[in-house]
Amino acid sequence: MRAAAVFPVERRLAVVNDFPEPQIRRPNEVKLRILAVGVCGTDREIASFVYGTPPEGFNYLVLGHEALGQVVEAGPAVCERFRAGDLAIPLVRLPCPDVTCAPCAVNRQDHCETGKYREHGIMRLHGFMTEFMVLDAGYLTPVPKALGNDAVLVEPMTIAEKAFIQAEHIASRLPWKSQRRAAVVGAGPVGLLGAMALRLRGYDVAVYSLDLAPNPASRIVESVGGRYFSTRNTSAEQLASEAGPFDLAYEAAGAPTAAFEVLKSMGPNGIFVLTGVPSRHGGVEFDTHGVMLNMVMKNQCLLGTVNAGRDAFNLAVEDLAKIQTRWPGVLGEMVTGRFPLEDFASPVLTPKGIKNVVIP
Ligand code: BGC
Repeated sequence: MRAAAVFPVERRLAVVNDFPEPQIRRPNEVKLRILAVGVCGTDREIASFVYGTPPEGFNYLVLGHEALGQVVEAGPAVCERFRAGDLAIPLVRLPCPDVTCAPCAVNRQDHCETGKYREHGIMRLHGFMTEFMVLDAGYLTPVPKALGNDAVLVEPMTIAEKAFIQAEHIASRLPWKSQRRAAVVGAGPVGLLGAMALRLRGYDVAVYSLDLAPNPASRIVESVGGRYFSTRNTSAEQLASEAGPFDLAYEAAGAPTAAFEVLKSMGPNGIFVLTGVPSRHGGVEFDTHGVMLNMVMKNQCLLGTVNAGRDAFNLAVEDLAKIQTRWPGVLGEMVTGRFPLEDFASPVLTPKGIKNVVIP
């Protein structure tokens, strides 16, 4: 069968035509037909050969970690839970083999401490840009059929869900109800989905991104009741005075300059969550003195988060269903490009629009 692959040593991208079709070998395995795979900035980094590692014994890595699959067949131990035709989303990260890794031992590989974890399409495991995958049912999240094609947004939504699960834990240190004003830095898919999840939780949401409004992302923000501001004509201070003080900021752009500007403008007791992975070169100077002073004097909290656990996958499915009901059609507007597997390099290397998906 076909698979979209990156050959890091040869520095090329190619469709592998003889990638072996997997078969169920264990009673708890499920065979999925891959219906769609979202493309993100991580894929671009991998395709630019600055990140990503092929599985042992391979000179290539099959790309893709944001998959929507349909069950073709399930092993005898799990065939009651996964029936042919059901939709499912695979987890990206699998536990590391180190028995002393406490997070991996309790299935919280998103907090792996050894760095030996494996991630589909990213680290030491082939990804989902292929026709079929066989996976352990324990690493699958079932999806109601009503979610349909919008379910390809589950994985990017898990980044937001994990951020908010953790932010809620931290916020529980304050024995009163906060104002619920949030800033979202970045209006890519992870930022927009985060803005929607925050609106569901009753936050006033200000999305802060590069492009001037109106643009497709600003229209989405406004259609879910948020406000959109551009870094081109609004400083972080203006943002905070118009839409803050923020008790939560969610960064989803991997843009350190904008992130640390907003961090400086956070309100008292604010929680700032960083989720974007900045490009692996370059750096910015920032006001370390001002940031430290503010963080201490205002009891602020800065949190980094990567990947997501099962709880976030389940919540992502629930929240996407709520978004479908509350703002019909908005999730469909997020997917702006569909590409056959043969053309995978185009959305990966020269992305346009909001979310591109590859259809194997
Ligand atoms: C993925 C995460 C992954 C991270 C780092 C992100 O694009 O969504 O699942 O952990 O990249 O590899």
